[in-house]
Amino acid sequence: MLAYVNGKFLSKDDAVVSVFDHGFLYGDGVYETMRAYRGKIFLLGKHLTRLKQSADAISLALPLPLDKIGEALNEALTVNKLNEAYLRIQISRGTGEIGLDPALCPAPTMVILTRPFKDYPPELYANGVAVAIVQTRRNHPLALDPAIKGTNFLNNILAKIESLKAGAYEGIMLNWQGYVAEGTISNLFAVKKGILQTPSLETGILEGITRDLVLHLARKGKIPTEELLMRPRDLLRADECFITNTTVEVLPVTVIDGQPVGNGRPGPITERLMQAYRSEVQHHV
Ligand code: PDD
Repeated sequence: MLAYVNGKFLSKDDAVVSVFDHGFLYGDGVYETMRAYRGKIFLLGKHLTRLKQSADAISLALPLPLDKIGEALNEALTVNKLNEAYLRIQISRGTGEIGLDPALCPAPTMVILTRPFKDYPPELYANGVAVAIVQTRRNHPLALDPAIKGTNFLNNILAKIESLKAGAYEGIMLNWQGYVAEGTISNLFAVKKGILQTPSLETGILEGITRDLVLHLARKGKIPTEELLMRPRDLLRADECFITNTTVEVLPVTVIDGQPVGNGRPGPITERLMQAYRSEVQHHV
């Protein structure tokens, strides 16, 4: 697999960045994860827009215009002869002397990594996964806004360590006020009395591209939706639950903190949205 580093496609061994890169020293950078289906990057425009928003939020000037970044991503698929693929683009502050001042880094570092997409085991979708509500709180938006898709991931990693200890597939973080926020790498949905509920953006979450598409598909399918401040006890009493992100798409959650969700099986609205999402993917050309 050839990796893109600052304009060049390099073999795994040659694809290296400096130990003085501020991405390595300080986690100073932004990224996007994407999926390509049948050789085409799904919702590329939305990922590029969010990449730009994240970069703006940390005062990072992108090294190329967005259309050229899109071309580099597509080239990464072509040179690696990939159709079903995982892609990650990462843009860090770049190489510079030790110190926090971004001006120490004259040019950002841009890396694109790809790999063939390996389907998740079908049992995950058939049976659902277990999640655990963790103690680690999601970053306060006034400290490090979760809306920024930044490469500084310690908040999520601490939550992941807790969720692994609990034997859960994903850890669910609460926000600073104790409302349900999101997973370590996913957004969360619940279904209650036929209404699809998800934490509102004011909770302090990443506005997932999958989350937005699921809300759109629900409205199209006449499923009532509600974006709200969600209390943990309401989540624990949900009839259905699922998580979303670019790679897992819509994944049913059947256990929360060791307790079954509803009847312990993926629910009918979850199933409908899983199908609607897959059909959307089929129709994208
Ligand atoms: N993660 N919330 C967080 C904290 C995330 O890291 C992600 C995505 C999401 C879902 O966003 P989207 O639907 O746009 O993928 C929500 C990606 C998959 C990652 O870290 O690789």
